[in-house]
Amino acid sequence: MKVIGICGSPRERSNTEFFVNLALKELQKHGIDTELITLRDKVIHPCTGCYHCVKAKECSIKDDFQDIFNKMLEADGILVGSPVYHSAPTAYIKTLLDRAGFLGRWIVNEMKGVYGNYEWKGNAFSGKVGAPITVARRAGQNFAFAELLLWFTGNDFIVIGSHYWNVGVAGSGGKVDAEADTEGIGIIEHLAQNMAFVLKRLKNCGEV
Ligand SMILES: Cc1cc2nc3c(=O)[nH]c(=O)nc-3n(C[C@H](O)[C@H](O)[C@H](O)COP(=O)(O)O)c2cc1C
Repeated sequence: MKVIGICGSPRERSNTEFFVNLALKELQKHGIDTELITLRDKVIHPCTGCYHCVKAKECSIKDDFQDIFNKMLEADGILVGSPVYHSAPTAYIKTLLDRAGFLGRWIVNEMKGVYGNYEWKGNAFSGKVGAPITVARRAGQNFAFAELLLWFTGNDFIVIGSHYWNVGVAGSGGKVDAEADTEGIGIIEHLAQNMAFVLKRLKNCGEV
């Protein structure tokens, strides 16, 4: 079993990276393989809305997206961590999720099925577990978190929660001091424990 953690902060060793890594380390304790993917050093252009993927089953833009998308396909679980920028996830995350969500739908489905209607056949993420993590200094947490939740719930994920929303709080002045957020640490560790629990149950119970 493998879980990837995608970090959408442009900063090195950022608060978001701290929380995503924390979740991955907790998952490792449960025997789950993990990989951190940071978008900081990747080039992912925005979706051009060309609809090429509907027929071609691949994205028309060639950049770092393909590698990350393949890792998303291979993973059993996906964590998406984003700093809160103006009450929203960062552009790094937005561009990745736009393209992954759209391609993920069309590599499995046709726009028109045999009866001329759209026939839902699942998508690339069906049956995977996933969760968002957002980190803000002060405000806008709910908007950013909800935006990511909408992506997960609209893309057929089994979404994992914790004993509070999966959010971390950073210090004033944009400080990198996530380790001071002891409540956030507990929330994210428990999120990872829940993810490990669900993954193990899903894998042990066979097909439905
Ligand atoms: C462009 C920009 C916009 C931001 N907008 C918000 C915001 O809306 N609400 C907030 O609480 N913090 C905001 N912040 C602060 C960051 O969320 C905070 O510094 C967070 O720790 C960044 O995560 P990182 O350390 O993983 O990069 C913003 C920071 C930047 C650079």
